[in-house]
Formats: sequence, C-alpha cells, structure tokens
Amino acid sequence: MKPAVARSIAHVRDRALTFCAGNRKLEQLVHAVEIIEQDRVPGIIVEAGVAMGGSAIVIGHAKTLGRPLRLYDVFAMMPAPGADDGPHANEVYRRFVARQSSSPTDRNYLDRVDDLAPFVVDNLRDAGLDLKRDSICLLKGDFRETLHGDEAVALAHIDCDWVESIRVCLERLTGRIPPGGIIVFDDYGSFEGCRRFLDAWIDDHPEFQVLSAEWSLVVRRYADQQKAGAARWQSSASVQGRWVARARLAAMLVPSGNSVLDLGAGGMAVGNYLLPSCRYTPSDVVKRREDCLVVNLDDMTTFPEDRFDTVLMLGVMEYLRNPAEVLARIAKTAPRLVMSYCIGTDEALAYRRAHGWINDFDEVGLRALLQRAGWTVERWLAIGIADRHMEVLIACNRSNLGSPS
Ligand SMILES: C[S@@+](CC[C@H](N)C(=O)[O-])C[C@H]1O[C@@H](n2cnc3c(N)ncnc32)[C@H](O)[C@@H]1O
Repeated sequence: MKPAVARSIAHVRDRALTFCAGNRKLEQLVHAVEIIEQDRVPGIIVEAGVAMGGSAIVIGHAKTLGRPLRLYDVFAMMPAPGADDGPHANEVYRRFVARQSSSPTDRNYLDRVDDLAPFVVDNLRDAGLDLKRDSICLLKGDFRETLHGDEAVALAHIDCDWVESIRVCLERLTGRIPPGGIIVFDDYGSFEGCRRFLDAWIDDHPEFQVLSAEWSLVVRRYADQQKAGAARWQSSASVQGRWVARARLAAMLVPSGNSVLDLGAGGMAVGNYLLPSCRYTPSDVVKRREDCLVVNLDDMTTFPEDRFDTVLMLGVMEYLRNPAEVLARIAKTAPRLVMSYCIGTDEALAYRRAHGWINDFDEVGLRALLQRAGWTVERWLAIGIADRHMEVLIACNRSNLGSPS
C-alpha cells in the first residue's frame, strides 16, 4: 500500500470520519482499488453511501488522478431500514436516531446531519484531496433520483446499509461493471438482511466471483478468459453457509499458537475463527488479498517452501488432479493437517463431475491415501450430508513425527 494511502486510513480513523473503521474494511477497499488500477479495468469509481466522506477519502488517495470518483448520498439523515433488514437493523437505527450511541463517529455525523455535503467537501480538502484535480464529485439525493448513466463502473463501493438501497444500487450498477470490475459491499457482515439479500444475489449472478466474504463482501466480474473456470467457483447461499460452519469446526482442531497455512483459502472464513495466538497465512490460485500467497496445487512448483505447524485444506481436495502428491508435499511442510472431503458415492457421480470434482474416494480409499502419504488420522468427523454427499472433516498428524523430509 502506498504510504499516502496508509496515512489517509489513519487520518479518517483518528478523526472519526468513517463508519468503515474496523475489521480491515478500508484495507480491503484499498486492495480492490489497487486491483482495478493494476489491471487497468476501464470505468469510473462509484461510492453509494458516503456519510462524512471517510471511505471516499481513502479511495481518493488510492486511485489514479484521472479516474473519476462519484460520491452518491442524500448527505442528510440516512434513510430508515425496512422490514427486509430485520429487527436488529431497525433497533440499531432507532437507537442511532435517538442519539443513544456515544461513539465519536456517530456524534460527528449527527452533529452535522442537516447538511453533510459541505462537511464532506471540507473533509476531502483537509485530507489533501482537490475535487477538480482528483476528479471527484458529489451527487446529492436518493439513489433512485441520482444513480443514472451508462458509463462503465470499474469499482462500486456500496455502503448504504439497507436492503432497499442496495437493491437500487445493484439494479443501476450491475450491468455497468465490465470484466474485471469489482463491487465491495460494506455491510455484508454487519446486517442480517443485507447478508441474506446478497447471498441470494450472488446465487443469481455466477458471472461474479467472490474474492472475500470476511466482513465486507468483495465480488469481481470474471474477465473473459476466466469464464471457463467461473462456474466451478460460483457460490450459492447454502454453500456459503456450509463453508462458514465448516471453517468454524476446522478452526477448533487447530492448537493455540500454531502457524497455519490455509490451502485454497477462498473467502478465508477460517481466519476469523482461529485462536488469536495463531498466525494465519491464506493461499489460493487467485491473490484474494494482500497477504494471500498464490499457490496452484496442480503445479507443485508454486507450493510454499516455508514450514508451518498446521496446514488447512477445506473444500479443495475434490478438485485436485494429484491428491496423493499434494498430501505427501503437505507432510513436508507441517506435522498436522486438517482437511475436508466429500466422500464419493456412485449415484452422485454426475453431480461430482458437474461441480468439477475429479476424484471420488470412499472412506476406505481416503484413509489408505492418507496413510500412504504419511498421515495418521487423529479425528474423523462427519460434518454434514448435503447434495447426497457425506462431508468429513479430518485431523491428521504426520506419522513419522520428527523427520520432516
Ligand atoms: C454507513 S454510511 C456510509 C459510510 C461511509 N462510506 C464511511 O466511510 O463512513 C451509509 C450512507 O448511505 C446513505 N444512503 C443509504 N441509502 C441511501 C439512498 N437510498 N440514497 C442515498 N443515500 C443513501 C446514507 O445517507 C449514509 O450516509
């Protein structure tokens, strides 16, 4: 990250100018800007939901000067949630409007809520941005009235809390995102209604790949050359829910203080559930965020050289061409392995192939494979039956502990 961008994050956090302060949301947003800039994805940047301009300041510093940044908001009291948002969101809003919160950010916002646009302009300027030079403009009003146009949108930061507003944004923006373009949904991890709505949206939009679903949800439209592989990584609401449950259980099988390599980390959900004393290193075929190693398990030359205490491999082995080789290589990297596998059954073969699963071990076969690769099974947990498959979570120790090679 460029030093000026890191400084802008500290600037908005220190001055309580952003509702996106926590959970590395701003870092994740910067990473999205870096991706579209690096890949030269054409189009403007849209932020829908600006409040005091905190995240807009960070985007403004991370983007190239000439790429327009359009900031959409009512720049007045934020609209109320609806029934789809659920009781928690409605309660949060009620307390917020009644000024029952003591957070400096909430007070900062509520003190200026009658006319936020001049405050945002001042904040942008104080943070070293110049509207003209940096191609930034504010568009005031409800998204229904303001969010028009047909220019390509390389990045949309959708941070407007409530389902109805997000729905309008997606109606207006989805078709404008070019291949390689990104949408960051800030509120995915914050509000239940938003999460439910977006899980269904992802399900209906396989042309978008989920880059991360940690707190914000980050999705990227497949570039043309990636289309072939797209269907495989298409996520669905049910699968996402299952992944999180699996990640939670897997994290419980990792001892405290472990250094952990996550192979095929996907949404990196497991990183949220490991004990704080663990050090987490995600890896994937796609560089999903800054600290993610790029590892293609079909090409062992990309396998990391470092040693770890535990390797995690969740929802990955079904896709591997060379599972025996991968398992043996992991045994050189770590004395412990926690992995999942959907046990093969004959009648579900067509389903397996349709999902890109190219190996079909039954329990006996899988146990034998692990043993041959140098692993002793310590725990074998049946964690669910979905789509006619029994999924198991397996914790193993290296059989010949003490001789890593
Ligand atoms: C959580 S705040 C945005 C936080 C901001 N990105 C930051 O860094 O702090 C949500 C914003 O969305 C705006 N918003 C929500 N629904 C809207 C709509 N339908 N039209 C215009 N603005 C909307 C609200 O006014 C509010 O300022």
